[in-house]
Amino acid sequence: MLTFPKRTHWCGELRREHVGSEVVLNGWVHSIRRIGKITFILVRDRTGVTQVVISSKNPYYEVVETLTPETVVAVRGVVRARPPTQVNPELPTGEIEVELRELVILSRAKPLPIPIFDPELMKTTSETMRLKYRYLDLRRPEMLRNLLFRAELVRVLKNSLDSRGFVEVETPYLARSTPEGARDFLVPSRLFPGKFYALTQSPQLFKQLLMIAGFERYYQFARCFRDEDPRADRQPEFTQLDIEMSFVTREDVMRVVEDLMREAFSKTLKKELPDLLPRLTYSEALEKYGIDKPDIRFENYIEDGDENLRTVLKAEPNKAVRVLRFELRGKKPEEIKEFIEETLTREDGVRHYYVIRGTGSPVSNNEAVEQELMRSLDIGLGEVVVVSVGDYVKVSGALGALRNSLGKYLGLARKDDYAMLWITDFPLFELSVDGVLTSMHHPFTAPRPDDIPKLDKDPLNVIALSYDLVLNGYEVGGGSIRINNKELQEKIFRMLGLTTEEMYDRYGFLLEALEYGAPPHGGIAIGLDRLVAVMLGYESIREVMAFPKNKEMMDPMTGAPGKPPEEHLREIKWLKISI
Ligand code: AMO
Repeated sequence: MLTFPKRTHWCGELRREHVGSEVVLNGWVHSIRRIGKITFILVRDRTGVTQVVISSKNPYYEVVETLTPETVVAVRGVVRARPPTQVNPELPTGEIEVELRELVILSRAKPLPIPIFDPELMKTTSETMRLKYRYLDLRRPEMLRNLLFRAELVRVLKNSLDSRGFVEVETPYLARSTPEGARDFLVPSRLFPGKFYALTQSPQLFKQLLMIAGFERYYQFARCFRDEDPRADRQPEFTQLDIEMSFVTREDVMRVVEDLMREAFSKTLKKELPDLLPRLTYSEALEKYGIDKPDIRFENYIEDGDENLRTVLKAEPNKAVRVLRFELRGKKPEEIKEFIEETLTREDGVRHYYVIRGTGSPVSNNEAVEQELMRSLDIGLGEVVVVSVGDYVKVSGALGALRNSLGKYLGLARKDDYAMLWITDFPLFELSVDGVLTSMHHPFTAPRPDDIPKLDKDPLNVIALSYDLVLNGYEVGGGSIRINNKELQEKIFRMLGLTTEEMYDRYGFLLEALEYGAPPHGGIAIGLDRLVAVMLGYESIREVMAFPKNKEMMDPMTGAPGKPPEEHLREIKWLKISI
């Protein structure tokens, strides 16, 4: 077995006070520079770099000549002060260098397939290559910083929860369906051919059972699995900070989360969040911002069109006409047009109109009404107006999503400015595209007690005891007070279309547990990947996950999903015939 000198110091650690000491560094050859008869190598580990100097008289000079970047080395040497002209104030270790005494090459590196230390070239490197060589991509300072930040945030959150009496409990990943509105990932059972486990979409049911068990305050950094198409802020496998509490009201849960977030922001980003986060009800959010995850760092409220505008656009009385206005802010009308065309969602029965008034003639998507829109909306120079006609929720949603995106595109908010808020009072139900009653959050969410009588006659107007946590236009968390009463839970299942047999087949264990002393309880799950991404100013959560799947839900590095060996398929009776 190869023995080698073990590190005495990290590469980012050495300072002037170490001058004269003999040290050992373990790390990667970051760069090699040859000036005359002297060679300088920078040795790197995750804490930084240190310069190592080798003169032509050094017995290792010849070996050093064969070094390639990213080779792994152990280096022994003596720390000395750099001559004043060679001090590098930009480097924390820039006052010293290490004179080489011993060099052991631990693993030689070939030329790398991606230019990880050239930020400009990295911009043109495809994400597939980055993910295929993720272990190299993760050597980049930016990725290293992201994952170190994530680890630090987790540490702060854990400490904070531990100090507040929360107990960390692990719950199963192999389970029966735990519905959160996505498809399940199924895992075939070898011992029960034809039966499947479902990977948990969230620990929802288990955490409720932990409350019934009497744990009172639970948390877990839980992996969740949801078979849905990935987006920038969505992965098939992601992490939640999952929390549940007993004997609480909605206010109690929200307060704890506020304290937790305040501590996390203050300790990691040195940013102070307000003691009480702003709140908007779901209907207020839709009215002002169009969407239930608004970026409130800028105004540009969505407004209702007046009668005149309704007439111009021939809006039927049951349709909403809503208006979003903002300024060009130096963008060309054609650029804005392209952005709107790409971003604005199209839905059946919704009409969109826009007029962009730059210095030249106006740019619009409908010349027939362009002049009338200009007049009735009094569109000024340098203004953009988008008007949508149709169902209130759809129109508001389309404009709200456009508003959030425009905020980023036009730089209406500073990246390092954080606006966190609560959205409360969501409807308990919504109608699916096929007109079927579905839960807006999940079926275990409690309705507002005053609204229980409305369940039968007016279910769509029943408000839930739920809340979402929103940060800079992203939903970073969601939770609710739960139903702790069997009859009410059965009623909700029935309203969602489950027969008694189906509900007992799927959720009989929960319904039974509700009969053995279930305290009032509620909680929340915070999307850790999303929270980290928004805190660090990224749109894609892939930038803060070590090994994410790509946009096609594949891993270009391991090749997952892959074909299992036939033997395995036979064992689970997938292949019935032996080959
Ligand atoms: P919900 O489904 O709202 O609630 O999830 C909570 C938070 O998890 C994050 N999230 C995701 N992050 C990345 N990729 C995904 N595919 C993804 N899906 C969700 C979001 C979201 O706000 N059991 C409930 C919580 C509860 O009621 O306590 C739940 O899972 O940031």
